[in-house]
This record gives sequence, C-alpha cells and structure tokens, in this order.
Amino acid sequence: MDINWDQLHEAAKGALKNAYVPYSNFPVGAAALTDKGDVITGSNVENASYGLGLCAECSLVSELFRLGGGKIVAFACVDGHGNALMPCGRCRQLLYEHRAPGMLLATVSGIKTMAEVLPDAFGPEDLEIRK
Ligand code: THU
Repeated sequence: MDINWDQLHEAAKGALKNAYVPYSNFPVGAAALTDKGDVITGSNVENASYGLGLCAECSLVSELFRLGGGKIVAFACVDGHGNALMPCGRCRQLLYEHRAPGMLLATVSGIKTMAEVLPDAFGPEDLEIRK
C-alpha cells in the first residue's frame, strides 16, 4: 500500500486542535494509515487526576476500533509546532499490538520500522509461545 507521508503529517497536525491539554499545554496529534486504507487520527486528552491523561496514540487506537478494527500500516505524530514527535514508550507498545506487518513510523530521525523503535518487543505472540 502506498503511504502518503505528507497527508499523514497534515492529518496529525489537524488533530492538534482536538487535544485537551489544560495541564501540560503540550498538544500532540497522531495519525495513521490503516490496512483498510483509512487515515485515522488521535489527540491527547488529559485529566485533573494527572496520571490518567490519555496520549494521542490512545485515542488513535480507540478510533481504529470505533471504525471496526484493523491494523496500522504507517504512523506519524507531531508536537504543537507540527514537528515530528516520538511516541512515548507506553505508546510504542500500544502501536506494536496493532501493527500491520512492516509497519512504518515517521520519527525525528526519519522513517523507521516498528522493530527499530521497539526492539525485541513483547507482544501477543509471546503469550502463546511462552505459555
Ligand atoms: N503525549 C502523547 O500524547 N503522546 C506521546 O507519545 C508523548 C506524550 C502527551 C501526554 C501529555 O498529555 C503530554 O503529551 C505531555 O507529556
């Protein structure tokens, strides 16, 4: 499947306006291309109970399932200036779970594979293999 990185970047920037960030004032926008060909987005949603804040990737994964599920082919994430942002560690794990084979990410140091940003990851396969 062709990946239009400019479109993903723009979609991630567009998602910034939906961020709810009264505590950090650090909006994050995320966008992904799914294996169905949809472009989905997410933004961070914070909470007065600070530790409960949801990263942009969390709302993106919720959107994936709201639309019936699927796998992520390509992913991009931006900060409030529209610059590429690395998914936090927890969100790398979240993305790993829902990756399509060969999933790519736009990172601060170029296009990378999931294995490059989360090497030797623990995943659903381990639950079977290591039972
Ligand atoms: N944040 C994300 O939404 N995704 C990331 O991968 C990194 C961090 C959010 C969480 C919090 O609302 C704000 O950025 C500051 O940490």
